[in-house]
Amino acid sequence: MNHSARNQTTPSNNTIPQAMLILLNLIALSFFILILPNLRKHKKPPPHRKPTPVQPLHPPPLPVQAGQDLWPNLVPEICAKTSGGDSISWSGKEVLKTQDCNFCTRPSLVGQQRLSYNRIDVIFAPHNECFRELKILCVVHLFSSKKVQYFYPIRREEDSKMIEKISSLSSASEAVNLSELLGSYQLYHLLERIFKEMDEFYDEIISDHLDPNKPKYEHKDFVDVLLQLKEERRFSFDLTLDHIKAVLMNIIVAGTDTSAAIAVWTMTELMKNPSIMKKLQDELRSVLKDKSFVEETDVQKLEFFQAVVKETFRLHPATPLLVAHEAVQKCTVQGYDVLPETSVFINAWAIGSDPPSWREPELFMPERFLGNSINFTGQDFEFIPFGAGRRICPGMLTGIAGLELALANLLHTFDWKVPTDVHEEDIDYDGVPGVTMHKKNPLCLVATKRTHDT
Ligand SMILES: *[C@@H]1O[C@H](CO)[C@@H](O)[C@H](O)[C@H]1NC(C)=O
Ligand SMILES: *[C@@H]1O[C@H](CO)[C@@H](O)[C@H](O)[C@H]1NC(C)=O
Repeated sequence: MNHSARNQTTPSNNTIPQAMLILLNLIALSFFILILPNLRKHKKPPPHRKPTPVQPLHPPPLPVQAGQDLWPNLVPEICAKTSGGDSISWSGKEVLKTQDCNFCTRPSLVGQQRLSYNRIDVIFAPHNECFRELKILCVVHLFSSKKVQYFYPIRREEDSKMIEKISSLSSASEAVNLSELLGSYQLYHLLERIFKEMDEFYDEIISDHLDPNKPKYEHKDFVDVLLQLKEERRFSFDLTLDHIKAVLMNIIVAGTDTSAAIAVWTMTELMKNPSIMKKLQDELRSVLKDKSFVEETDVQKLEFFQAVVKETFRLHPATPLLVAHEAVQKCTVQGYDVLPETSVFINAWAIGSDPPSWREPELFMPERFLGNSINFTGQDFEFIPFGAGRRICPGMLTGIAGLELALANLLHTFDWKVPTDVHEEDIDYDGVPGVTMHKKNPLCLVATKRTHDT
C-alpha cells in the first residue's frame, strides 16, 4: 500500500484543483509549449543550466479571459510564472505525435502524488507498466463507447433530477444558481475537501459497494466494475484498493469538476450571445419537436449544439495548462537538445486562441466548427482539449457524453434570462485562479419552462 505520501504536510487548497487537470487539454498547429530549462539549442549551446525544480503550478496564471487585455502578453506571462526560466514555442504535433514516445511521462509533483495515491492512477502516473494496465482498464472497462452507452441510464436519471429541481425553482420564480447546481450535481463540493476526506469518502463508497446487503441495482456503476475486475484478478500486478481509489479520484476530480466548469462557461457564453442562444434553441426545437427529454441519440443530431460545446472548449478550456508532460529520455526537438526529466507545459488556451489557426479567436463563434470535422479527439492539433497521444484523457467520451446531455436538456427544457435586478452586461468572464478554470462569480439565472407545442 502506498500510504506514505499521506504523511506529508496538508495540501493547500491549490493541490486539489491541481489534480483536476486531466480531463481537458487543447492543442494547435503552432502551440505554445513551455519548457522548463534543461535544454540546449544545437548551434550555440548556452551554458547548461540545471533544471529549475518543478513547482506545483499554483495558482497558475489566468489565461482564460475573453477580454483582449491579456491577449498579447499571455505567453511570456505564463512562462515567467511557471518555469522561472526560458520558454520556447514548439509544435504540439511534434511533441504529442511525432515524439509522443519521448514525452509521455509525467513529472512528480507533491500535491499530485497524494491525490493519485503515489502515482498509481491514470493521470499522474509515470509511463510504466501499471499506467499502461490501468489505462487499458479505463479504456476498455470504464470509458469505452460501449460503456458510455451502458452508463447512460445513470446520467439520464441524474439529469432528470436536475430538471425537476430547476422546474420547482422556476415555478417559485426563484433564480437558479447554476454554478451551485451544476457543481453539486457534479459532486464538485467533494473536491473542496482535503485528501483525507476524499480518502474516507472513497473508503465509504467502496465499502458500500462491497456490502452484501446493498440493494442490487440493475446497472453496475464504475465502482462495481472496478471491484469486479479486482476480484477476477485480471491484471499482471495486484490491483489494490488504492488503485481503485486512485482511478476514482481521476473520475470524480478530473471528469466531473471540469464538466461542471465547462457547463457554466457554456451557459455564460450563451447569455452573452443571445443570437447564438436563439439559433441553438431553434435547432433543439426543430430536431426534438415536442419530445420533453433530450436523449443521447438526439444529441448526435444536434450539429450546432455540438459546435457550441466545442467553441466553449476552445475559449474556456477548463484546464488551461494541460497536465505537465515530462521527457522520458534524451531527444532533439526542433533544434533543441532535450534532457530527460525536462517538464513540458502546454498552454491549451493559447493554442485554441492562436491567430494563425483561428480567425478572430477572441470571438465566441460556434459556426467556425460547422462544415468541417475539427474535433477534440486528438487528431487536430489546433484543438485538443483532451490532449493527444498516449496521454490523451481516457475519460473523454464519458466526459463529453455527460456534459452534452446535461446541457442539451437545460437548454431544451428552459428559457434562461438574467434576474430582473441584473443586467446582461454584468455577466462577466472572470475566472478563479486555479488549475481548473471555474467562473469566479456564480451564474444565477431565471429559468422558464419552454413550451414545445409550436
Ligand atoms: C451560488 O453558488 C455558489 C457556489 O456554491 C455560491 O458560492 C454563491 O454564494 C451562490 N450565490 C447565490 C447568489 O446564491
Ligand atoms: C467528435 O467526436 C465525438 C466523440 O468521438 C463524436 O461524438 C462527434 O460526432 C464528433 N464530431 C464530429 C463533427 O466529427
